[in-house]
Amino acid sequence: MKRPSAAELVAAARAARDRAYAPYSGFRVGAALLTEQGDVISAANVENASYGLAICAERSAVVAAVATGCRSFQAIAVAGNGPDPVTPCGACRQVLREFPRGRELEVLCAGESGDALLTTTLGELLPESFGPEDLGGPGASSLGPRSDQS
Ligand code: THU
Repeated sequence: MKRPSAAELVAAARAARDRAYAPYSGFRVGAALLTEQGDVISAANVENASYGLAICAERSAVVAAVATGCRSFQAIAVAGNGPDPVTPCGACRQVLREFPRGRELEVLCAGESGDALLTTTLGELLPESFGPEDLGGPGASSLGPRSDQS
């Protein structure tokens, strides 16, 4: 299993910030997902004149990954404005929780530059969470990469 370093994953998230579309908040966020296969899929936040439709960088990265056929992730790095680490919002935590690594997903939180890095897990960020297995139905068993089930 390929594995870029934490610094490399953070660098990919920072590079993705340049592609943010954030004309309303000015808060540019990049995210880099490390897939189970060792590939890095990065994305940025995308805002809208209808403010509530903004899509966070983390969810953009998840959607990009799933669209290319990948549904299993080792880690995600997030980088926002300023020197302080940015942690994923609540909605993004729940979206990340959906996939096989679930609570064990590594989450690396960084700022736009500097060495400050918060390294945690999704389980720490979203304790006692609800996930697909709680539904018990078919969705609970369709989580593998490229599963043909919906
Ligand atoms: N944002 C993210 O992309 N990720 C986060 O973890 C926090 C917030 C975005 C959403 C919006 O475009 C801007 O930052 C301000 O909230």
